[in-house]
Amino acid sequence: MASLAIIGGTGLTTLKNLEIEHRQVMQTPFGEPSGPITHGRIKGKAVVFLPRHGTGHTIPPHRVNYRANLWALQAIGVRRVIAVAAVGGIRRDMAPARIVFPDQIIDYTWSRQHTFFERDNEPVVHIDFTRPYCDELRDRLIAAAAAAGIDAIEEATYGATQGPRLETAAEVDRMARDGCDIVGMTGMPEAALARELELCYATCAVVANWAAGRDGQSIAMEEIEQNLVQGMQQVRTLLEEAIPGL
Ligand code: HPA
Repeated sequence: MASLAIIGGTGLTTLKNLEIEHRQVMQTPFGEPSGPITHGRIKGKAVVFLPRHGTGHTIPPHRVNYRANLWALQAIGVRRVIAVAAVGGIRRDMAPARIVFPDQIIDYTWSRQHTFFERDNEPVVHIDFTRPYCDELRDRLIAAAAAAGIDAIEEATYGATQGPRLETAAEVDRMARDGCDIVGMTGMPEAALARELELCYATCAVVANWAAGRDGQSIAMEEIEQNLVQGMQQVRTLLEEAIPGL
């Protein structure tokens, strides 16, 4: 039974280095996950894979059923989750194709199903979210990146926006003033829901583009695709390095 899951983001709807064993269709009290869960092995280690936006990349960020995804993973025995996510770079060193392991989050999303704790007549639960990612998993990913010769950025604040549109330049300026270093649309409520389920969750972000207004030009979709191809290749290398030790 796999205790490790990888949630794939834009640019990572399949994992080429996963030897597939079987696929599992699941239902949860919160509805269906984004797609069947793929069980397989990377370098001999049991892993499950779930593409966040669906197998055909058809589910936009605000319509991902984050609760069903995380519930399903926990229900099959997953304890650790590596969340791969495409982001825009805000801070000067967050250049396209770089790998970033964020350590903080600012949430700008709204109207998403963001908690499991909302049933009537149950005691109110407040989770600690001071450090939103699992430090132990982050440390292991950072060490694996170094061992694989990947020049990753070890600390960053992830600003989660609602999407699916990209931001305006003024919104990105405001996010920079708030302290955001990268911007993405799927980091929340995923990280908080993982914490509610007591999963050890860390994000491996791949910079797809300069965030709006950061290089003075509009954002070209072809450029995003090219950067993601390069970045996701590094993610595959990183996973091969990290997973045997997890
Ligand atoms: N903004 C939000 N989400 C993103 C971006 C961006 O610029 N690039 C990739 N995901």
